[in-house]
Amino acid sequence: MKDGYGRTIDYLRISLTDKCNLRCSYCMPKEGIQHVAHSDILTLEEIGRIASVMKDLGIKKVRLTGGEPLVRKGVTELVRILHTDCCLDNISMTSNGCMISEYAEALKDAGLGSINISLDTLNRDTFIRLTGSDELDKVKEGISSAINAGIAVRLNCVPVRDINDNEITEIAGYADRIGVPVRFIELMPVGCGRAHKGVSTDELKAKLEAELGSAYRLSNDELLKRGFDDIQGPAEYYGFGSFPGIVGFISPISHRFCESCNRIRLTASGFLKLCLQYPDGVDLKTPLRCGASDSEIKSIIEEAVLKKPAAHSFTTGSLNTDTRRMVEIGG
Ligand code: 5AD
Ligand code: SF4
Repeated sequence: MKDGYGRTIDYLRISLTDKCNLRCSYCMPKEGIQHVAHSDILTLEEIGRIASVMKDLGIKKVRLTGGEPLVRKGVTELVRILHTDCCLDNISMTSNGCMISEYAEALKDAGLGSINISLDTLNRDTFIRLTGSDELDKVKEGISSAINAGIAVRLNCVPVRDINDNEITEIAGYADRIGVPVRFIELMPVGCGRAHKGVSTDELKAKLEAELGSAYRLSNDELLKRGFDDIQGPAEYYGFGSFPGIVGFISPISHRFCESCNRIRLTASGFLKLCLQYPDGVDLKTPLRCGASDSEIKSIIEEAVLKKPAAHSFTTGSLNTDTRRMVEIGG
């Protein structure tokens, strides 16, 4: 499906819940948030129905997010529905890692292909300071169990100034030792993220160059040669000096990639959100629950997608920014 700017929309992020077992300070307030009422959360069957329609409209890739997707009951069942009933074969998840060790085998078996796991720090005290929980070991265990289950793993790290920005090289080294790529993501001024200072990709690269050697961009061919086949998406991958690992950078702030944006988002309460920044979108839950046919839902989606904004304007500061927090949107 095409949006109003001719971009192909083939990637759907589905938030399964606005709940999370951590309280990362750039994402969730310490006291938590007012959660959506249970009855307003889409059921697994409703998500499956929307995903089926989306597949017919050309969605090829689905990512399950949250909050923390694994706190949602039945997530393995949902992966099976998406894989088997909806015939989607590119299913991934973004998780904070704490609960993966309990689910890794079952998720792999249900059809989960890949998982992005957040790892912002390797220091126990910093982890507690950043997330409010003493779960670093659980996360590391989760990472190993996903790798052992044969799920493709990538690590996501959001550098935050004066909190974990002194650990970049160490985290890159850790990722290399366990044989997975890491991507450093620029902090976006969404919700609680506004109260923190991120670190730009250029600054991170300079830091890594000083410690590891000159940066060189890895082309898609080189990535494939290194056995790394997930080359779509906004990340740019680099090597450094003789460092053997692959380091990715996602730079929504300093190198806006909106021109090639291929994604839309479904919130846990069934709102189809067109851009991370703006509140624009359409409610799919009401028509779904009022008995709309598949073709009616299709038209609603197609019409909404035509209104997808051209680009975010985080750097210029727009008045129209969505007040939803990252944990409600799904990142
Ligand atoms: N900016 C960038 N990334 C964020 N995440 C949460 N809040 C922000 C933000 N403001 C990331 C988490 C995790 C994913 C779910 O979204 O670190 O990797
Ligand atoms: Fe939870 Fe992820 Fe937000 Fe941290 S960033 S509080 S793990 S949803």
